[in-house]
Amino acid sequence: MKLFLDTANIDEIKALAASGLIDGVTTNPSLIAKSGRDFLEVIAEICAIIDGPVSAEATASDAPTMLKEGEKLASIAKNVAVKVPLTEAGLLVCKQLSDNGVMVNVTLCFSAAQALLAAKAGAGFISPFVGRLDDIATDGMGLIEEITAIYANYDFPTEILVASVRGVQHVVDAALLGADVATVPPQIITAMFKHPLTDKGIEAFTADWKKSGQSIL
Ligand code: G3P
Repeated sequence: MKLFLDTANIDEIKALAASGLIDGVTTNPSLIAKSGRDFLEVIAEICAIIDGPVSAEATASDAPTMLKEGEKLASIAKNVAVKVPLTEAGLLVCKQLSDNGVMVNVTLCFSAAQALLAAKAGAGFISPFVGRLDDIATDGMGLIEEITAIYANYDFPTEILVASVRGVQHVVDAALLGADVATVPPQIITAMFKHPLTDKGIEAFTADWKKSGQSIL
């Protein structure tokens, strides 16, 4: 499974990119606003740090303007994935952009019906927001299960990009279901490394090694 970072914070991206474990980045208008950076500049900077797909979201609601925005965003770098919302206009633009070879990430997906339409519109990625569904007492991972089954039935090439991840268990559940990607906030990636028994084991090994009086170097 590919792991994308869900942030527009350059320092967070640089720090975790160094691990070699990060396969892409997703941003959205809220994350861009939070970064305090110029949108086009920060996307160009992220694309220079990360070789994999970097999602940059169009903000218009009408198809003609959204298409122009998408073309401008795609021109920033070859690894830009243009994000469009799961609306009629968004899927129209998705089809136009993907027909022209542009990578498209269809975002704000909350139902299997929406995901089916996105695959038919040629989406490169579909972003179901599991956390926001859980937030309203709806089974976010259940949606991933449905989409995974539907896409397998028809061999759709659209990659399932699990988004709105709220914790490590969401990443594990996404992997168990065979999702292609999870886009994860940096603090949750960091949490994935951690387990109290690992810390305890290292402490015990270090103490015992010290008692042996030996050294490797
Ligand atoms: O960036 C897309 C998605 O991961 C954001 O989810 O619910 O944390 O705003 P959320």
